[in-house]
Amino acid sequence: MSASRKEPLAILISGRGSNMVSLVEAARQGRLCADIRLVFSNRPDAPGLQAARSLGIETAVLSHRDFPDRESFDRALADLLESRGVRFVALAGFMRVLTPAFLDRFPGRVVNIHPALLPAFPGVHAQRQALEYGVWVTGCTVHFVDAGTDTGPIIAQAAVPVEDGDDEETLSARILAAEHQIYPSALDDVLGGRLRIQGRRVLRTGG
Ligand code: GRF
Repeated sequence: MSASRKEPLAILISGRGSNMVSLVEAARQGRLCADIRLVFSNRPDAPGLQAARSLGIETAVLSHRDFPDRESFDRALADLLESRGVRFVALAGFMRVLTPAFLDRFPGRVVNIHPALLPAFPGVHAQRQALEYGVWVTGCTVHFVDAGTDTGPIIAQAAVPVEDGDDEETLSARILAAEHQIYPSALDDVLGGRLRIQGRRVLRTGG
């Protein structure tokens, strides 16, 4: 981590929030140059909300069910984050596709982690897809978010072997350990301005 300025960050979750916790820990240990302003969930019952509160992080909820369409939810979410001074957004198990109504407010500043080696196995149940396909190696991917499903330029990947006897649970746990390794450092590169997007490629600027 070379940048000293802490960038205001929101983490968006829909569930357990283990990646969120690993990002908070990285920030507290000085491995992630972020000022984590808010943990947001579109699901009021997301267990990760309680985890965030226990860590002393402010939380907020907007249920997508209370909005007539995706765009109005996305606009309200962008308004909420901007009201907290947020500049960067990390998706961590956030189970909603974001539209340009949100993404255009944070251009090039929204990042996601996906539990497969994209472009293989996008969308839901990536670990199950990998097992059903019969691959020997899968993994996880940190990528910029665009309006597609897991289609944005790739920032970092880690390979994880599929082992004999794996089921969805054992494979997911092995991938999750790799997620917790790569997400903080990849996000730190984004926050530190050390990346440049050239076409589909993400290059280190060496800064
Ligand atoms: C992770 O596997 C992540 O890659 C995917 O959703 C899962 C979230 O897990 N997008 P957690 O809520 O961070 O524990």
